Amino acid sequence: VILTQDELKKIAAYKAVEYVESGMVLGLGTGSTAKHAVDRIGELLKQGQLQNIVGIPTSKKTHEQALSLGIPLSDLDSHPVLDLAIDGADEVDPHLNLVKGRGGSLLREKMVEGACKKFVCIVDESKLVKHVGGSGLAMPVEVVPFCWKFTAKKLQDLFEYAGCVGKLRTFVENSKPFVTDNGNYIVDLYFQKDMGDLKAASDAILQLPGVVEHGMFLDMATTVIVAGELGITVKNK
Ligand code: A5P
Repeated sequence: VILTQDELKKIAAYKAVEYVESGMVLGLGTGSTAKHAVDRIGELLKQGQLQNIVGIPTSKKTHEQALSLGIPLSDLDSHPVLDLAIDGADEVDPHLNLVKGRGGSLLREKMVEGACKKFVCIVDESKLVKHVGGSGLAMPVEVVPFCWKFTAKKLQDLFEYAGCVGKLRTFVENSKPFVTDNGNYIVDLYFQKDMGDLKAASDAILQLPGVVEHGMFLDMATTVIVAGELGITVKNK
């Protein structure tokens, strides 16, 4: 049997939900993989197999999904420490560093997942890379709309050595800027070469005044569940 990518995402998501216990405060991820996990949590609550769950959504979209499933919700102000978060990723390297945010929810994801005792990341095997940011796909940076071109140029200059090109994320239909849940823009960085030391790159990006957050999640995932054609692999930090 050949499984579709969506079936693999669902397998990883269901596996992660096995880590959920009644009474937990849970970070609810965003994207097509995390969606399956949120659905499953809703289902287990309805069946009574899980009880007293509090969900902290990482986006407006997940907030709506969780509401429609009847999952009780709260926020970081009321729950500054979470037991567990489950979320997808765009890239995962062998050290469990991630790139996230191709769906645009990186800031809330980083706030919520940074506040969790455990962060279980769920992916299908297509997300595995040798170096994050090196797959030729976008590494998203959330920037304030004010003079975003200035910030994009600064970002590009920072990584000139790696042949970095920054592009404002826009809607294909009308080429209007994509706006995040926080009212900001996204500049997607494309690298021709490896950006080198990730921590140094992260620090340099965060020092630019127009930058709000970037999509590299370094040393945050405690577990990564990978679903592939040959089965499930669980990697722990
Ligand atoms: C949302 O902004 C992202 O961080 C997602 O978690 C990530 O893009 C993975 O999405 P998919 O599960 O849809 O691939």
